[in-house]
Amino acid sequence: MNQEIKKRTQWFMDARFGMFIHWGLYAIPACGEWVMSQREMTAEEYDKYFEMFDPQDCRPEEWVRLAKKAGMKYAVLTAKHHDGFCLFDSALTDYKSTNTKAGRDFVREFIDACRKYDIRAGLYFSIIDWRHPDFPKYGDRQHPMRNREEYKGEAIDFDRYLEYMHGQVKELVTNYGKLDILWFDFSYDDMCGEKWRASDLIRMVRTYQPDVIIDNRLEGSGENHGSLATDNPLPYSGDFASPEQVIPPEGVRDVNGGLIPWELCATMNNHWGYCNYDKEYKPAEMIIRKLVECTSKGGNMILNIGPDAMGRVPEQSVKILEEVGEWMKKNGESIYGCGISSLPKPEWGRYTQKGNVIYAHVCEPPLGALPLYGIGPDMLERAFYLADGSEVRRGEAWNTATFSETAFVSFGEDPVFTYPLPDKRDTVLKIKIRS
Ligand code: GLC
Repeated sequence: MNQEIKKRTQWFMDARFGMFIHWGLYAIPACGEWVMSQREMTAEEYDKYFEMFDPQDCRPEEWVRLAKKAGMKYAVLTAKHHDGFCLFDSALTDYKSTNTKAGRDFVREFIDACRKYDIRAGLYFSIIDWRHPDFPKYGDRQHPMRNREEYKGEAIDFDRYLEYMHGQVKELVTNYGKLDILWFDFSYDDMCGEKWRASDLIRMVRTYQPDVIIDNRLEGSGENHGSLATDNPLPYSGDFASPEQVIPPEGVRDVNGGLIPWELCATMNNHWGYCNYDKEYKPAEMIIRKLVECTSKGGNMILNIGPDAMGRVPEQSVKILEEVGEWMKKNGESIYGCGISSLPKPEWGRYTQKGNVIYAHVCEPPLGALPLYGIGPDMLERAFYLADGSEVRRGEAWNTATFSETAFVSFGEDPVFTYPLPDKRDTVLKIKIRS
């Protein structure tokens, strides 16, 4: 990994856990953010949502406060998604939230809330724009008008679109103070890299936001990491890879096997934008264990909420994130600033590590004493429950004598007995090993 990227992403890799917020006009049809493309809607048909948009209950501060409560260290809001609707007061278009009944710059409110709650602030910006007249339509992979013959051979001025797109990015990087993350989305087919005039875009962004970290989707997407994973990252490679809805089996590494910064982006149900019939929410236990898995593989997790048409966070998301936050309050030390352990993955869960402190994430109760795989009895100096600091008893006894290579601990008085896990979701042991 190049040193500049390593330095720039240090805070990010320590933070480990962030909130994605997908919100916009698509919350009104309430079937996800691709509705305009899926229903092949014309701009005129989609305009009814612009007229209807009146999210009186919208409090971006509540989104950010929930992120804080969940133990998240950063939050990223969709400033503009593929439908081209801007949640910010862009001087380059009338298609923006300040021109709706709401009359508000939600990006400004979101950024202000991040500052108030000491959460790193990021903005998602779609480099795709299904609204702009100079964006390719007929035959495009996903444009709402991709199948309409009337757009076949249409004369568009793509350079004019790029001026617009670069201009809006410039508005975001100059009008809202310091940004911590810019999350571009997404490249596909030949629409990648310099097709977007990505080098110019990055140069401009870095002029105003030298420390901002950028994802890899000016070049890649969730399906390919781009040049970031090569020996020679291009100027627009971005700073982190963005695997989507799947945890990379071995983390994300470059061609030489070196770890590169990566962030899993995942939804809480199965939709990014609000979907009122999708009740398939991932339980808190799963979110906790997947966050541990990302950390144990040297990566982050950004978890998405999709507020409804009124700007309210779905109750299921609130409940789950509050439970995750309770666990993080007691066990966050095993996530923040932690990464891959030098020890082999144990059968009962995972290890995360920070310096010479190992965190054992026990997700499956042992029969009798718990073997600390990879740790010999003499290596083990102390072990205690991270949640309350109480000591974990050693588990070596007559029935473990023959397994003398491995240290054991017990969750109860008698190491030969079997006890339940104090926290069945993930009981974290903080382990000091003798160096
Ligand atoms: C995919 C979805 C897009 C979403 C993004 C988040 O690209 O198509 O709608 O914003 O993932 O990572």
